[in-house]
Amino acid sequence: MKLKYFVVLLLLFYFSFAQSQSFDTDEIQKRIDNMSLHDKIGQLNQIDGRGSLDDLKELIREGMVGSVMNITDPQVVNELQTIACEKTCAKIPLIFARDVVHGFRTILPIPLAQAATFDPELIKEGAKIAATEATEHGVKWAFAPMIDISRDARWGRIAESFGEDTYLTQKMAVAVVEGFQGNSLSNKTSVAACVKHFIGYGAAEGGRDYNTTFIPERIIREVYLPPFEQAIKAGCASLMTAFNSNNGIPVAGNKFLLKELLHNEISFKGVTVSDWGAISEMITQGFVEDRKSAGEKAINTGVDMDMSSKIYIQFLEKLIEEKKVKESTLDSAVYRLLKLKQALNLFQYPYTDTTKPKETFSKNHLDIAYKIAQKSIVLLKNERETLPLSATVKKILVVGPLADSPHDQLGTWNMDGEEDKTQTPIMSLEKLYGNKVKIQYIKGLNYSRDADKSQFSEIKKEALDVDVIIAFVGEEAILTGEAHSMSDLNLQGVQSELVTELSMLGKPLVTVIMAGRPLTIEKELNCSNAVLYVWHPGTMGGPAIADILFGKTNPEGKLPVTFPRNVGQIPIYYNHYNIGRPATGKEKTIQEIPLNARQSVLGHSSYYLDSGSIPLFPFGFGLSYSQFEIGNLKLLAKNLNKTDTLIICIDITNKGRFAGSETLQLYTSDLVADVVRPIKELKGFIKVFLKPDEQKNVKFTLPISSLAYWSSDMKYAVESGKFKVFVGQDSQSGMEDFFTVK
Ligand code: BGC
Repeated sequence: MKLKYFVVLLLLFYFSFAQSQSFDTDEIQKRIDNMSLHDKIGQLNQIDGRGSLDDLKELIREGMVGSVMNITDPQVVNELQTIACEKTCAKIPLIFARDVVHGFRTILPIPLAQAATFDPELIKEGAKIAATEATEHGVKWAFAPMIDISRDARWGRIAESFGEDTYLTQKMAVAVVEGFQGNSLSNKTSVAACVKHFIGYGAAEGGRDYNTTFIPERIIREVYLPPFEQAIKAGCASLMTAFNSNNGIPVAGNKFLLKELLHNEISFKGVTVSDWGAISEMITQGFVEDRKSAGEKAINTGVDMDMSSKIYIQFLEKLIEEKKVKESTLDSAVYRLLKLKQALNLFQYPYTDTTKPKETFSKNHLDIAYKIAQKSIVLLKNERETLPLSATVKKILVVGPLADSPHDQLGTWNMDGEEDKTQTPIMSLEKLYGNKVKIQYIKGLNYSRDADKSQFSEIKKEALDVDVIIAFVGEEAILTGEAHSMSDLNLQGVQSELVTELSMLGKPLVTVIMAGRPLTIEKELNCSNAVLYVWHPGTMGGPAIADILFGKTNPEGKLPVTFPRNVGQIPIYYNHYNIGRPATGKEKTIQEIPLNARQSVLGHSSYYLDSGSIPLFPFGFGLSYSQFEIGNLKLLAKNLNKTDTLIICIDITNKGRFAGSETLQLYTSDLVADVVRPIKELKGFIKVFLKPDEQKNVKFTLPISSLAYWSSDMKYAVESGKFKVFVGQDSQSGMEDFFTVK
């Protein structure tokens, strides 16, 4: 009887739900049914708004634009919106898009730095303030987050990524999507997220931007796909296709990737937009002959919107007439776009409120930017507690091209930040600590590539009576980001010489590295007493760095990417596959090789004669002013079923003098499998705050289902057998134990 009621209720619920759905569907479908072919095609055209405004207005009036990029003046947004909503046949609002990659006006640290916080909740807050600021300026569609797995520091866009790890990237992807979209896209302060670039773009050969990728299906599924899957599960409204061809097929025309994987398997229902000009680039890639066939390929593969190629607007009508594209294909793409506009409430409220007081640059926004910057800073070395600067420090010498470079501090994709609102390290040191210590500042080098050493002698003179030297070196923003790949990751210009000379002055040397990627800094690391890696930290980088230097806050950032010793070690990432002859760590270095040595005296293991097999810093690494000790690792079960969840407990104690946070990381390793598996994989992390001498017991939960992988016959399943579990403070150290899956 009870079951009957339940079934009836279920049916009622289903019908009322289906009805409300079909009501929505009808609304949009009705509009589409009443639209001309021309107007429908116009919706799929995305135009850059930075050209002639008059031309743009004309195009909109003619019903040839569905979305405008790169206009952030709310007055202009409203003006264009009035034309779209009142002066066109279809009367459909535009959707304004922008690359809101790490903040809007209040610039947050670059995404790579954000990943170093290992704090998705905080990153969600960051995305939320970015969305608020963007919507205040009329932007309702953010081309972010970029969730390309990036294992190559040469690739300039690594700055925009969350690093090399799939699990961490998933968490960050979901955080940004949730932060952007809020609890409903219809909120005034919500923007539609756009995960990009689907897929594999970060694996560009040689780290050279736009280069080809060759990624086998298993690696696509295990490494590159999960962040997209999770973001889509979290409701991500749109997705951008990548420029690259993978295994010979450009993504914008890749049926396997866009149709089979994205639409059929993952059931992505949102809008798919091409990357900038990527549809027409299929011609340069030698994949199609001309613009018309490029358009045919892209729309038939599932690219809904054409970003800036203007191919759809030029050829879709003809292609439909020639029956090369079905009108229903066009209608489905328009449907998805209009559903997005509807979800954003653009039909009801197309305009941006220009009278509302702006939250842009509000104290709350600056506080969040500060907090993210502070938590992203990674302490790489701290010899004899050089940091935090002690009370005995009375005079410091600050040098280096990045101590006062607002432009560079904002990093790549700084579309809307303001340099004069940016707080640089020297400004903050003077403002916050200038009454406690005397601060002498000499730039030394005017920018990171500067090769002029003429200020060095003055620096040496000034250094004579200071207690500490702080050098701000690194790379300018322009050396990172899209199309800015590098083949040499050493410090540019004569920065390295500057650091070396400073290290010989007999004073404690703190080197602060501001960069958009891992740089190869072994030399500078060795000659500095303390090293902070602060990335491109955004608007509030200055006070975040100053407070860490003086110990008001304690560093807690962890590297989201492996730091190589030199470029030759790339690709180097912690979760590489098991190999038959792994390095033992006892290999001879190049200097130790005897003269006339025979081929086999060095043994046969996998390493570089000149740089070994170990990176400079492993993934997950980051020190604190405190020392944390872990112990008492306990697995609450050792034999588990595939549906079980394993509980793993560990104690952590703060043995240091400072309160601070540590991020404990959980890794697993599948010891024997049907295909060779990664040496270890991150499966969880927990941030713990501990006062001095405080101890906590931390509990990880590991669903056994999360150990599934793609077998040799491409089945996704958990295999029975033995697994290793590691819990540690980075990917290379910690405690381990074993369990068996039945
Ligand atoms: C980039 C995208 C970006 C687009 C629009 C392209 O060059 O690859 O990430 O969203 O431009 O600015």
